Amino acid sequence: MQPTFAPFPATRLRRLRRTPAIRALVQETTLSPADFIWPVFVRDGEGVVEPIHSMPGVNRLSVDKVAEAAVEAQALGIPAICLFPYTDPALKTEDCAEAWNPENLSNRATRAIKAAAPDIAVMTDVALDPYNINGHDGFVEGGEIVNDRTVEALVKQALSQADAGADIIGPSDMMDGRIGALRGALEGAGHQNVLLLSYAAKYASAFYGPFRDAVGASGALKGDKKTYQQDPGNSDEAMRLIARDLAEGADMIMVKPGMPYLDICRRAHEMFGAPTFAYQVSGEYAMIAGAGERGWVDGEKVMMESLVSFKRAGCDGVLTYFAPAAARLLNG
Ligand code: PBG
Repeated sequence: MQPTFAPFPATRLRRLRRTPAIRALVQETTLSPADFIWPVFVRDGEGVVEPIHSMPGVNRLSVDKVAEAAVEAQALGIPAICLFPYTDPALKTEDCAEAWNPENLSNRATRAIKAAAPDIAVMTDVALDPYNINGHDGFVEGGEIVNDRTVEALVKQALSQADAGADIIGPSDMMDGRIGALRGALEGAGHQNVLLLSYAAKYASAFYGPFRDAVGASGALKGDKKTYQQDPGNSDEAMRLIARDLAEGADMIMVKPGMPYLDICRRAHEMFGAPTFAYQVSGEYAMIAGAGERGWVDGEKVMMESLVSFKRAGCDGVLTYFAPAAARLLNG
């Protein structure tokens, strides 16, 4: 689009910025609580609200408290909650069997949310890292993160989540062929309405640090995730990954992390037009919340500015730990 206008002074672009009313009229991008997916951390116990040191304002919640959070989210107009379990280290094994235990934390939390706040969409995470003794998203054999055997396990994990009532399944593992395998298995099991929100363009990022603390995977992780997550220097590869996942049956796609990758969001939205989400990840949250807490930036204003940037970049919505705080501000 070529901007056309008469030369100054016939055109004075500041006229459009003069008053709050005029600015509101010409605002191009707006935010609403309906743009948010709220990621929450689940732990065992009852009545537990346990602060996460590296994510000020974010807590690990026991299942009953997650259900309360879902009721709160529903009242705020947040359409979806995404569950991440903090798994007891004693349940982490090499075969990751806890991942498809119908009674695991994630599945219990899904059922509790469905009972307490039936209108909220529940999103669950498919990857083996919360259950894996070595912290990786896939099985490790001889130092290698193996693909195909991992995909078979991811299918079992996803089916147990769908059985528990998950509406949206979010494969965050970056294995090849998992979207097709998951879609086929869901169809075969009568879960044809379960959505797949693929973490299609997921980078090997240092911004995940606080999350790994939150789910207790930091200590466990051996090595890095560079053989399955993307190189931060790559953009064309992200488009190939998204095209592949859409072709295999993904309903929606995600770019992750968010703010350092807004160019990828914009490109993905323009190239595919599929529902596009960004994940404003734990490290992004920590930087804003931490600096806000110290008074180095105005935390609320930076939060809202960061969130609108995702919409402006073409995203339909954003996974953000700020969801309840931002929704409260937006609701006045
Ligand atoms: C792992 C997973 C990660 C996040 C979501 N799912 C971390 C990783 O890949 O190591 C990160 C989310 C965040 O940082 O907020 N399957």
